Amino acid sequence: MGSYFSKNQFPVNGQTILITGGSTGLGLNAGRQLAEKGANVIIVARNVGKLKEGIRYISKCACSPETQRFHHIVADVTTAPECARVVAEATEWNGGCPPDIVWCCSGSAHPTLFIDTPIDQFQTMMDSNYFSCVYMSHAILNAWLRPAIDASAATKETEPQAKAAKPTPLPARHLIFTGSFVSFYSFAGFTPYSPSKAAIRSLSDSLSQEMNLYAAAHPDLPRVRVHTVFPATMPTQSLEDENRVKTDLTKALEEGDQILSPELCARRAISGLESGEELVPTSTIIWAVMTSVMGGSVRGGFWRGLESTVGGWITLIVMVFIRWEMDSKVRKWGAEHGSSGMVKKE
Ligand SMILES: NC(=O)c1ccc[n+]([C@@H]2O[C@H](COP(=O)([O-])OP(=O)(O)OC[C@H]3O[C@@H](n4cnc5c(N)ncnc54)[C@H](OP(=O)(O)O)[C@@H]3O)[C@@H](O)[C@H]2O)c1
Repeated sequence: MGSYFSKNQFPVNGQTILITGGSTGLGLNAGRQLAEKGANVIIVARNVGKLKEGIRYISKCACSPETQRFHHIVADVTTAPECARVVAEATEWNGGCPPDIVWCCSGSAHPTLFIDTPIDQFQTMMDSNYFSCVYMSHAILNAWLRPAIDASAATKETEPQAKAAKPTPLPARHLIFTGSFVSFYSFAGFTPYSPSKAAIRSLSDSLSQEMNLYAAAHPDLPRVRVHTVFPATMPTQSLEDENRVKTDLTKALEEGDQILSPELCARRAISGLESGEELVPTSTIIWAVMTSVMGGSVRGGFWRGLESTVGGWITLIVMVFIRWEMDSKVRKWGAEHGSSGMVKKE
């Protein structure tokens, strides 16, 4: 992992980046900022009108408009065949090479009290947030790694290989997931959503370790780095949709939450990726809560590791009181307003 003071570990000039959920919100702003840095950008979503508008918005900021390219793909990324098709179409558009970077940004939230949640919403949340990441990762990692694995298996079967000279390292490939504050700490009203975002963090941690296997076995391949970005609350379509179903209780528990524009959140996420972070918090409060649950997650070099470890000791103590305070608020709410989660009307 990179050290605290190292050079840009996420160079995108001339790279091709595919962003699911790139037509609005965080994904759109990330696409625009990456285009400003010289990337070719492919955005994926379901609504074709918003995708076309998104491409116009992103391409306006290209730093080399004569050479940079932009493309959109209409797809619902909650199924494995669609994710495989997206990667195949992106590869064909990119002259036969799979995209160098994939950012899984699409997602949605349905924050309601557990027993009031329609039962199919639990599956919808996992499909929208977790399985979209699993299917996209499966498709892109196979595109990146499978040819070398198959080629080396075929070579080993036929002839012994002379020890090759150490190859010059190629720029890394990046697979990026999008989590949430509730990947680390959830509370009343987020049961349908938070497990899907916590699962993404676990997927990210274990996949990033697994990638060491391929890096060591195939040193001639670009290394694959796996990251998860944790956005702060952003005033986007997703937030508007979730606020329509959220209870007054959950809104009260969220009070004091830091709200960032999707533009600033994307800027912070990209800056974290550039500095080599594997888990990328976009606000101080998310960083603090993250440090309290990091366990064996990659901490990004000695100094950043030291900082997160000391931060974690402090936050661990604070979290004990936060949990106590939140529990008290929920009990007080139940006594005053009943169990609907809504303010009792007189
Ligand atoms: N907003 C927040 O406060 C907040 C906080 C923490 C984490 N996040 C996470 O950050 C990410 C981006 O959120 P946002 O607020 O920027 O969202 P947003 O503005 O609502 O955009 C969501 C994007 O995902 C696409 N999308 C949704 N479902 C899809 C599907 N099944 N297949 C393909 N595309 C799909 C949408 O386009 P179509 O509808 O046209 O498909 C759109 O492009 C999400 O993963 C979200 O969970 C958001």
